[in-house]
Amino acid sequence: MQETTRTISLREITADTVRAVCKLTAEPSGFVAPNAMSIAQAHFHPNAWFRAVYADDELVGFVMLDDSALLPEPPAEPEVGLWRFMIDAQHKRKGYGRAALRLVIEHVRRTHPTLERFLTSCVPGPGTPRPFYESLGFVFTGEVDEGEEVLALDLRPTRDRGQG
Ligand SMILES: CC(C)(COP(=O)(O)OP(=O)(O)OC[C@H]1O[C@@H](n2cnc3c(N)ncnc32)[C@H](O)[C@@H]1OP(=O)(O)O)[C@@H](O)C(=O)NCCC(=O)NCCS
Repeated sequence: MQETTRTISLREITADTVRAVCKLTAEPSGFVAPNAMSIAQAHFHPNAWFRAVYADDELVGFVMLDDSALLPEPPAEPEVGLWRFMIDAQHKRKGYGRAALRLVIEHVRRTHPTLERFLTSCVPGPGTPRPFYESLGFVFTGEVDEGEEVLALDLRPTRDRGQG
């Protein structure tokens, strides 16, 4: 199992970094929208929370959450899903994705202490990132949403699981 020794962090995107974030490329393509598209969408979706991923001080990726608690009128039981996630092609398979997703999960736990599950979805087929998510504990829910397989990470303390 590849664990990085570099320090992975999630940082706000600024006027100085937005162009570089838009130039990051996902490989294979087809599993995630271009970052420029995501940042443009985030501008119109108050439920979007997004950050750049850094390895030490090097920009390596992008993440965006769909957090319904951020809506002007949040639902009584908000849901949080991983909307976009990518590590630049030249930085893949160095353990950065796993370390970044762990930070994202910590962020979700911290901001939603009672949330029971954190969702993601992925396009099936060759090159699908599904095994990556499964290696972090996500489980296929059996649901397929607009052609994407929905996976969930159980956030409940172990003692509370299996009780409904
Ligand atoms: C999927 C992605 C975010 C993973 O990031 P990464 O930095 O390459 O992943 P890591 O190096 O942390 O890998 C963690 C583990 O997942 C595995 N893994 C990573 N990507 C995988 C993939 N596409 N398929 C199968 N396993 C994968 C690695 O082999 C590693 O396992 P190991 O340590 O047992 O060898 C990255 O490859 C990517 O951006 N892919 C293209 C875009 C994409 O699919 N985004 C997700 C949209 S839902």
